[in-house]
Amino acid sequence: MAKTYLGALNSLLIQAIGLMFMLYYWFLTIINGQFFKKPTAEYKSELALARDHFWNLSKQPFDLHHRFLTLRDGFKFHYVTNAIPDPQTPASKPLVIFVHGFPDSWVVWRYVMGSIWLRETSNLVAVDLPGYGGSDLLKRYSATEVHEKMTEFIISLRELYGIDNPERTGAQQRVIIVAHDWGCVISMRLAADAPQLADRFVLTNGPLISLVQSNIKRLISSSVKMLKLFSHSPLQSRSMVKKALHTMNPVIRQAVASGYVFALQLALPIVRLQGSGGDTALLRAIHKMAHGVNSIPSAKEIAEGVAGCLGPSLRQENTETSDSERYSKDVVKQSYGEKYVSMTNYYRQGTSTGRWKKSLETITGLYSLSDGGEIRRKSSHSGVFDEGPEGSLKAKATIVWGMEDVALNPHLNLDGIADYLSRDSQVVTLPRAGHHTPVEKESRLALQKVVEWAVAGEEGDVGSVAKAVYPGAVVTVTA
Ligand SMILES: *[C@@H]1O[C@H](CO)[C@@H](O)[C@H](O)[C@H]1NC(C)=O
Repeated sequence: MAKTYLGALNSLLIQAIGLMFMLYYWFLTIINGQFFKKPTAEYKSELALARDHFWNLSKQPFDLHHRFLTLRDGFKFHYVTNAIPDPQTPASKPLVIFVHGFPDSWVVWRYVMGSIWLRETSNLVAVDLPGYGGSDLLKRYSATEVHEKMTEFIISLRELYGIDNPERTGAQQRVIIVAHDWGCVISMRLAADAPQLADRFVLTNGPLISLVQSNIKRLISSSVKMLKLFSHSPLQSRSMVKKALHTMNPVIRQAVASGYVFALQLALPIVRLQGSGGDTALLRAIHKMAHGVNSIPSAKEIAEGVAGCLGPSLRQENTETSDSERYSKDVVKQSYGEKYVSMTNYYRQGTSTGRWKKSLETITGLYSLSDGGEIRRKSSHSGVFDEGPEGSLKAKATIVWGMEDVALNPHLNLDGIADYLSRDSQVVTLPRAGHHTPVEKESRLALQKVVEWAVAGEEGDVGSVAKAVYPGAVVTVTA
């Protein structure tokens, strides 16, 4: 009984906090004028152009091809690629898979994928996560559903692009997964529980959930200890209150910055409104900031960012890829309010915290990837004692972190991360970059160079590679 009350209280509290934060975020969009400022005519025409340019399946935005990949159960992933795979004679090149975050799509990678060197040397694929962009919707966005779908997608891509062909060697067999924001949350789980999928993960400004949780617990418990000390002898330990507050500072900051997560727990009609209200004021505000604090994006750049989030609409319903594939009906007929609900279901349905119950197909698929003995060899040096804490990444990872990210506190996200990384992993920090590292002018080049370094076989120090294009970039952690 008490438990039910507590549960109800808890969910009420979440609703209340959510409402508060939502009001706060709307307040912010209102004071920066976004909410009532009618979008300009220029913006509107740029938006219509960008939506057709990015989502009309017979077009080739940035010289990329639209494709679909259908899984065993009929679920359809939409992705763009520089190279249409030819199953008969796949080009012997490494495969780079890009995974976007919330509330984006493949479009967030438009700059990094522009690298001429990457296009010549690699097969590039930028996917839309389930419920995002042009990919199908899921009934539930549970940890199992999402990670099963992503794993099957990646294993199928490896086949399609011939990665595991026996006559291939070395660099031709490399697979690199590049992820941002929520894409990191999912990719980090893959790196922990399905490390065979890729040779390296390049992860930028997205949280390692188990590390963040452990950091929050640690900071709270040490401030509680300080406060206890204070309550026993208030006079002698006055400074403890100040210390406790200081210790809690990153937690409080993160709580304020993640207010939107609470806002997303709200009743669905409110969430819908949040996504689409004020002529998608929230999206316009996000993309006004996405180019960094010192950059004022043009109407075109903002429109492109928003078009990427909106995905295809009924206008693109009858467009077709070169192999006559179309978007699923459910995807194009959704209003943006509905789509926003799908995208935010990741927050509500436990994608990041739930258990991933692997299917037999997944287990077999992963096992066949490690057949070459590569994984066994990689992990043979690590015994029971250096497996690391729960959620540790078992594949090589390079974390590229914009330190001015207002959405993700660097202390909570990076302190103690070395314990969670496997051998040959690094953290590269970018001192001036914010959350949108794949979009900001300076950081997207650093990110591109790190990906190129990974494709080229990881020669030399990744820190110098980043620093060459981004003064001040440093490797802060190596494992
Ligand atoms: C999609 O693009 C093709 C090729 O540019 C064009 O002919 C067609 O009219 C476009 N379709 C829509 C619905 O905009």
